[in-house]
Amino acid sequence: MKVLALMGCSKFGNTTEIVRYFTDRLGERMDIEVEYLYLSDHKLDLCVGCHNCIFLGEKKCPHYNQADAIERRLMEADAVVIASPGYMFSVTGIMKNFLDHSAYNCHRPKYFGKKAYIIGNFTKWQKKGVFIPLETWASGAGFEVCGKVFVDMLPFPATEKELDKKRKKLSIAARKFGESLLNDGVRKPKFGDIAIFHSFRTLCRLAPGILEADSAYFNAINAYDKNTLWYVPAKISKFMNLMGNLMERQVRRQVLGMIDAERTEKARGRHLTKLQ
Ligand SMILES: Cc1cc2nc3c(=O)[nH]c(=O)nc-3n(C[C@H](O)[C@H](O)[C@H](O)COP(=O)(O)O)c2cc1C
Repeated sequence: MKVLALMGCSKFGNTTEIVRYFTDRLGERMDIEVEYLYLSDHKLDLCVGCHNCIFLGEKKCPHYNQADAIERRLMEADAVVIASPGYMFSVTGIMKNFLDHSAYNCHRPKYFGKKAYIIGNFTKWQKKGVFIPLETWASGAGFEVCGKVFVDMLPFPATEKELDKKRKKLSIAARKFGESLLNDGVRKPKFGDIAIFHSFRTLCRLAPGILEADSAYFNAINAYDKNTLWYVPAKISKFMNLMGNLMERQVRRQVLGMIDAERTEKARGRHLTKLQ
């Protein structure tokens, strides 16, 4: 099994040590081939916020080739580990830049069938700031996020007792990820995953010419058919589907209270609003 570690950290820092410890423990449990992809080895210009990837399609991104070189590696892997230290209560800039370039995946997920584990290196106060963007991106992009772990390996010498605690925490996490990798059941989406599907579906209905790429994706997956419950076939209860449909109506009502429906339906491309 091919495991790709997406490294949003320096090559010589503590996060590298943490991920290597985790993947070594994983490798003791199962036959894996691990590759480390350091975002710092890739030239990825800063996201300019043109919205082309979201509205027109990722190929229209001015940095498409640079971002695609990274995404291809993710696509070739069976499973991924996504790692970042905490910088200013968030992920590193280099990781955030990659998430921005690949955020369109949360509108048009494509990484289904791949499992992910998230690893952070930070103090407990940074937990939300680092985990939220990584988990939102990974699960939004279609990965099954099997878990997440953080340790605080700061640039100071730690006591042996502290190191043992970190080793234990990482070994348990690796064992859990190993168990998830061996269990090849179909992903069971959470309500949040269903809610995203319904939200984008209703937005595509309201603004097909603005959300051009999303609309094409939703048409391609036959999303408007009543038998299509999510992006891909999955275990979704009748109750969850009902809640999703109710939520879709609610989102539609809310959006219609905010936008000019007639003009939105006819609009093409990204709309820029003038306040004066
Ligand atoms: C630019 C920068 C910002 C940081 N911001 C924080 C922070 O907000 N809170 C914190 O506890 N540590 C912060 N740190 C410390 C790192 O999270 C910590 O040193 C971590 O171990 C670095 O991982 P590395 O060794 O893999 O580079 C920051 C470090 C850097 C370089």
